[in-house]
Amino acid sequence: MRMYDIIMKKRNGGELTEEEIQFFVNGFTRGVIPDYQAAALMMAIYFEKMTGEETYLLTMAMAHSGDVLDLSGIQGVKVDKHSTGGVGDKTSLALIPMVAACGIPVAKMSGRGLGHTGGTIDKLESFSGFTTELTEEEFVRNVNRIGIAIMGQTADLAPADKKLYALRDVTATVDNLSLIASSIMSKKLAAGADAIVLDVKTGSGAFMKSKEDAFLLAREMVEIGRRAGKHTIAVISDMDQPLGYAVGNALEVREAIETLKGNGPEDFVELCLTLGSQMLIAGGRVKASSHQEAQTQARNLLLDAIDSGKALKKLAEFVDAQGGDSRAVFDTSLLPKASLIKEVKAPKSGRITHIKCDEIGMCSLILGGGRETKESAVDLSVGLVLKRKAGDEIKVGETLAVLHANDPDKAEAASSRFLKAYTIEEEWPGEKAGQIRPAAPGIIHGIL
Ligand code: URA
Repeated sequence: MRMYDIIMKKRNGGELTEEEIQFFVNGFTRGVIPDYQAAALMMAIYFEKMTGEETYLLTMAMAHSGDVLDLSGIQGVKVDKHSTGGVGDKTSLALIPMVAACGIPVAKMSGRGLGHTGGTIDKLESFSGFTTELTEEEFVRNVNRIGIAIMGQTADLAPADKKLYALRDVTATVDNLSLIASSIMSKKLAAGADAIVLDVKTGSGAFMKSKEDAFLLAREMVEIGRRAGKHTIAVISDMDQPLGYAVGNALEVREAIETLKGNGPEDFVELCLTLGSQMLIAGGRVKASSHQEAQTQARNLLLDAIDSGKALKKLAEFVDAQGGDSRAVFDTSLLPKASLIKEVKAPKSGRITHIKCDEIGMCSLILGGGRETKESAVDLSVGLVLKRKAGDEIKVGETLAVLHANDPDKAEAASSRFLKAYTIEEEWPGEKAGQIRPAAPGIIHGIL
């Protein structure tokens, strides 16, 4: 078999066989197939696409290109959760302690932020001393002991995806549905959980800008997961504006802690309850005669975990178990804090009709809260807290957001970028015709 023929076949619109896909993944992982041939194949796939069968075969080959975690030492149904990435997406920080406090073990692999999106590991490192570098034994022991463990993607877990993603990132071949689905699902399958709950984002802050594409991606991933024998559910949620109000590592940790104290923003709480109830159902925590009834029971359990303080305590146990300073869970003044505060004021009165969500992520990046390259250091203390979101009325001079910075020049640059991200309309064009002004979008678009 020759790589040249495989590239040619795909370039001409052919369907690759299991042997051909296996040949490519094995050869590329071992370094026998060079980057330029892999890049040519990725571009051919980008234009010619892959069938569901090819996508599944590519996923399985990448999932088995390295170690597959053995979580059989953990009692109960292990549930993983994955978000396709967004702005202000601190969901795991609140959701995982909520779910674990309800008795479902969460064994999760998380990532770091790149570009305008944040990553759970960076956020958790706001707790001084926190580490995700656990051995497989520590990972299993922690889940059995306290119900939660989070680790980063190791070099041995789906190494084919690790290499391929880095290549796609620099060859303009990231945004292909089959390649995204196989990339995400190969890591999830290698991470070994029994059930996977996917949070597929859509909107201006997400990979999938349109709802149609988000549903297609969700369907593809659910299909792969189910064929691989995993209970897989996808929630399609809104990322047309940041989730909650805080964007930036330590600021998001604070918001997640407030949520566990019962003071969370409405959209964020709703997302946690939706994903959490799917996790409890997948984990077999609730038994009911109808799905509706199961959802109600699960939501009540999650709300009780917040009201009783069990979820907050669970977060502290988890931070402690992974070497972090858990005192910060109860005293957030111990989290990293920026030295400078700058308010961004509304330039005119009106209604906020649109927010360029990815641009808000870029503001956090400019302040130092994100990574330009994989090697960049992250300033955990900086970011922004929105005061107004889409659908809100605003008066000229009112505060739209508060920037937390350590450098006045960066604060200035972030402030002007921020203002360009908000559309404020003084008069809604449809108003005279009796149309209702657009309200903020709902957070959940569907569940598969
Ligand atoms: N996240 C991944 O892990 N892979 C992709 O291809 C896109 C997003």
